[in-house]
Amino acid sequence: MSHTATRKILVTSALPYANGDIHLGHLLEYIQTDIWVRFQKSRGQQCYYVCADDAHGTAIMLRAEQEGITSEALIERVSHAHQADFARFGVNFDNYHSTHSTENRYFSELIYTRLRDKGHIATRDIEQMFDPQKGLFLADRFIKGTCPKCHAEDQYGDNCEKCGATYTPAELIDPVSAISGATPEVRSSTHYFFKLPDFADFMQKWINDGHVQPQIRNKLMEWFESGFNEWDISRDAPYFGFEIPDAPGKYFYVWLDAPIGYLASFKNLCEREGIDFDSFWQPGSDAEVYHFIGKDIVYFHALFWPAMLHGADFRTPTAVNCHGFVTVDGAKMSKSRGTFIKAATYADYLNPEYLRYYFAAKLTSKVDDLDLNLDDFTARVNSDLVGKVINIASRCAGFVKKIGGGTLSSSCADPQMLASFIAAGDDIAADYEAREFSRAMRHIMELADEANTYIADAEPWVLAKQDGREQEVLDICSMGINLFRQLMVYLAPVVPAMAKEAQAFLNLATLDWHSRHEVLSNHAINKFKPLMTRVERDKIDAMIEASKEDLVEEQKLKDAPKGPLTDDPVADEVSFDDFMKVDLRIARIAKAQYVEGADKLLQLTLDLGGETRNVFSGIRASYAPEALEGRLTVMVANLAPRKMRFGVSEGMVLASANDDGIYLLSPDAGAEPGQRVT
Ligand code: 2FM
Ligand code: ZN
Repeated sequence: MSHTATRKILVTSALPYANGDIHLGHLLEYIQTDIWVRFQKSRGQQCYYVCADDAHGTAIMLRAEQEGITSEALIERVSHAHQADFARFGVNFDNYHSTHSTENRYFSELIYTRLRDKGHIATRDIEQMFDPQKGLFLADRFIKGTCPKCHAEDQYGDNCEKCGATYTPAELIDPVSAISGATPEVRSSTHYFFKLPDFADFMQKWINDGHVQPQIRNKLMEWFESGFNEWDISRDAPYFGFEIPDAPGKYFYVWLDAPIGYLASFKNLCEREGIDFDSFWQPGSDAEVYHFIGKDIVYFHALFWPAMLHGADFRTPTAVNCHGFVTVDGAKMSKSRGTFIKAATYADYLNPEYLRYYFAAKLTSKVDDLDLNLDDFTARVNSDLVGKVINIASRCAGFVKKIGGGTLSSSCADPQMLASFIAAGDDIAADYEAREFSRAMRHIMELADEANTYIADAEPWVLAKQDGREQEVLDICSMGINLFRQLMVYLAPVVPAMAKEAQAFLNLATLDWHSRHEVLSNHAINKFKPLMTRVERDKIDAMIEASKEDLVEEQKLKDAPKGPLTDDPVADEVSFDDFMKVDLRIARIAKAQYVEGADKLLQLTLDLGGETRNVFSGIRASYAPEALEGRLTVMVANLAPRKMRFGVSEGMVLASANDDGIYLLSPDAGAEPGQRVT
């Protein structure tokens, strides 16, 4: 065992928002981080893993209001739910705190005042949309209106989901507050800015100093070359957050105090356990600090955060480790397909350690997205963990019990092979250290194959039937158990619950990395119990169905505006089967008329060859009603009826649009009302 000095390491994962459930997309990060931390601890490093709920901001304030509870009550409830989810997945934080905490207020004020006193804060007036009814400035996503490009109604403030146009909220036609429905007004107010350009030289050096992955470095340099702006760090009341010192009615923007939550959570841990906080965070500290994050929040962690820390006389992170997004069966997680899977829903159906292993088997140090292919998931877990690793123990345990009375042989059948398994630990450790988990898992499975081949070739079950060969059988199976033990040392960071059971079976005080050097000889083991059952496909299907039901439940609860990072799918790919669910029909426009009080709509009476439908359509700008009567078009006939201000709309006609107008689809001559369009 080597005697290099113990490293001091602080590790964080991104702080989840306190208004949403943990889902598989989140779990990739927490599992990746947790594996890395468990590995460091197994190696004897002084390693701490902290996290917290990201509790501030408008979205949380509005969500609480909608539920009729205080923001404090909401974040309290969500924090419990998050921690319960993490516990089920074996994500083992040393501390889980909140950004709405005294420590975080303290550090937010400290960092802000230090930056201010050094001249890195500027103020200036900006104009913004304001909801006069709620008395609230509106971020773009809280404004809705008609797309200036394609005239689709009910689009969010900065982009159109129909035509993909991007614009400013001021360009929306008939903008309304998505919160109250009131017409917003433009108002001016004073905002506080962090002068990021002051740190341009420092940041350029930092970005190029090996603190981020190469892909991220390139991305950052692109941003860098296009020039930095000052960063708006204030929001006006009402806001759920911390008031800025000396600026009554102004609050720190949620993204200002979110990363400071890392310090706050660690400080809270230090106070509880007597750890020296400053030795981790003062400039020149010999401790290592790592942030694990998703690629969507690089800007905050690799630009703003190091600049803030540096400007306020704290050390900067050793590295920011980015990962990609999770896709399921090759596509973005989708609520309607049931692949937007919550942590709790998954854990109701499947063993969390399957997922930990699968993620490990696919994770690299890169930023690529990771596909959870459900068939591959089943095959991988069953073949690797159950078929290879556990199989070794289950093949050998019975003979050790029968022949050795549960005690392993005192002679090693193949010392060289065992030594090679022990030596492999150095390479595997290097892969863990470099976050090349996929390579580590591959190496471990190669060893498992080797162990199985060894047992298969030695055929203890054949020898056991021959007289006088008991000792040989015991030696072979003791060897098998020793190999299994090595594998469990290597796998323990990934599958801690399984490792715990293996440890009990092996009757060992520890499965720490260094413990593997001691060969198990003349050592009593315990009764073997199956350490993990196979993944069953019907459980996966049930989980997908349950996720679809989660969506139905949510839909009932939610007609509020989207939060900043709720992961609502925007334009999912649809399967052929899904597409076939859309019932497109030829329709004759039997009647068309203006709708009083609606300057965009026409009311259409559509004839489907016997059946008639009432449809409100936003085509008034391009069609006079009399010009439409009698013509054929295409409609969606099985759209759920929508209650509108003027009546119920029972379908939709198909049209395209551009700047000049709207163009209703027409079939070629010969088509008849009521015919299905495929
Ligand atoms: O993107 C998010 O979900 C944020 N809540 C992450 C914050 S990480 C840190 F900065 F607090
Ligand atoms: Zn549009």
